[in-house]
Amino acid sequence: MTSLVLQFNNTIHPRFLRIAMSIKHAIQSGQLQPGETLPSTRLLAKQVNSHRHTVMTAYQELIAQGWLTSIERKAYQVNQDLPIENSQQSPNSVNPSAATFQWSLSPNVFTKATGQRHDKQPAHEFHYNFAGGQADLSLFPFQEFKTYLSDSLVRPDLTEFYYGKPAGTSLFIEQMTAYLRKARGIMNKDIIVVNGSQEALYLLSQVLLTPGDHVAVESLGYQPAWQAFQSAGAVLTPIKQHNKGIDIEALTTLVERQSIKLIYLTPLHQYPTTITLPIAERMAIYQLAAQHNIAIIEDDYDHEFHYDSQPPTPMASDDPQGLVIYLATFSKIMFPGGRLGFMAIDKTLTPALLHYRQIMNHKPNVLMQQAVGKWMQAGAFERHLRKMTKIYHQRRDHLVSLLNAYNLQSLKPVNFIVPAGGMALWLDVGDNAEALETYCDQNDIYLLSEKHFQLNPQKSVNHHVRIGFAGMSQEKLQQGLGIILNFIDSHPHSESMAASIVEHV
Ligand SMILES: Cc1ncc(COP(=O)(O)O)c(C=O)c1O
Repeated sequence: MTSLVLQFNNTIHPRFLRIAMSIKHAIQSGQLQPGETLPSTRLLAKQVNSHRHTVMTAYQELIAQGWLTSIERKAYQVNQDLPIENSQQSPNSVNPSAATFQWSLSPNVFTKATGQRHDKQPAHEFHYNFAGGQADLSLFPFQEFKTYLSDSLVRPDLTEFYYGKPAGTSLFIEQMTAYLRKARGIMNKDIIVVNGSQEALYLLSQVLLTPGDHVAVESLGYQPAWQAFQSAGAVLTPIKQHNKGIDIEALTTLVERQSIKLIYLTPLHQYPTTITLPIAERMAIYQLAAQHNIAIIEDDYDHEFHYDSQPPTPMASDDPQGLVIYLATFSKIMFPGGRLGFMAIDKTLTPALLHYRQIMNHKPNVLMQQAVGKWMQAGAFERHLRKMTKIYHQRRDHLVSLLNAYNLQSLKPVNFIVPAGGMALWLDVGDNAEALETYCDQNDIYLLSEKHFQLNPQKSVNHHVRIGFAGMSQEKLQQGLGIILNFIDSHPHSESMAASIVEHV
């Protein structure tokens, strides 16, 4: 240990005892842990402005009392056998009569973990991980990326490292602007970089919504986005879905009857059903939004991973009114721990968002943006995307062929639509979904059933599971799926395996 901050009680004399008592206090409060080495007498003496012999006497006193032990007369450490973890848990803490501080939390329900997705441990800790949107991090080119990261430090652009430039670094924004124009047809929008798209959802909620505003969301959808809207006091209104996407008639009735402030959509690979919203429906939704003065958030979270054709250009690419807010993330292209995402927005919205962002966080992490900017500039980013798209495509095809083979030989076929892209498949397992999820929990398999994606679970049936196929090798995918299909095969389910991929209110 190099430094130790001690709290002195100046009423204690002599000085060596004052030092000894403050170290004892640090041990009792958990600041110093059993087994931990103390600073050398020379160092501590310097820190507490005492003579080295005074500190040595303090240490000897604590050895005599049993708080410290000395290691071969060279170093001192806290007695390993002390039954102390920290003052919160120790009834013998410094002031046993002190009651725990009572926090007065804001009435905002989000100070509690309200229905936060589920109470499973993180998906990657399971042996088989069928989480829907998980990239295979073992295939990320960390070594290659390190070059761009270290280059950002070796040749730092100092203007970026100061405060200011709250939207993001020039290099990253330039690269992203060019990429969006060429690869996604998005132009004439401002880019604001965020620490992952969740931050954008929160920021947008705070800036656009007033308590009581209605936000229309897909009735099977992305709970973290819903919670961001709710944190600003919004009321969520479900949009009816069907096998091809959004029920336009129902949406039309909804916006005519109810004042809607915002529509949140995942048009490319609907979350969680993975359905690609057809062009005609996108246009119809845009027209409705324009007529009724509604903003659209288009969450395009895994754009590149589209297999059967080029991905359709985002709604934001044909947005004459500037009402589409486009969100994208690097959590699937790279890894969620990178916390990098951005929104492409109409210029008129930029000032409000930047003002608010600076209250939350002056600016997003510069180092990551610089490294990714250089990665893109070198063309290595697109190379990585091509490689991963190919691998995920193969994994999707493998999963589909395994399911088709199962359906050929089983009396209990499973119903699904081949996803045109994305990282998951929405599988209809009839009324087996609940039992299957429980079985998976018990067998080290991460799998979520439909109920976790429903806006109104009480009013909906639980008939589907989301099979993420991107995060595991083909062999592992096959093994894990084998266990799942064995379960389905050996368990009776309702006769009417749903003919629908989306089956809810
Ligand atoms: C619909 C949707 N949006 C966004 C994200 C990514 O969020 P973030 O960028 O905050 O990691 C995910 C990740 O699972 C998602 O499923």
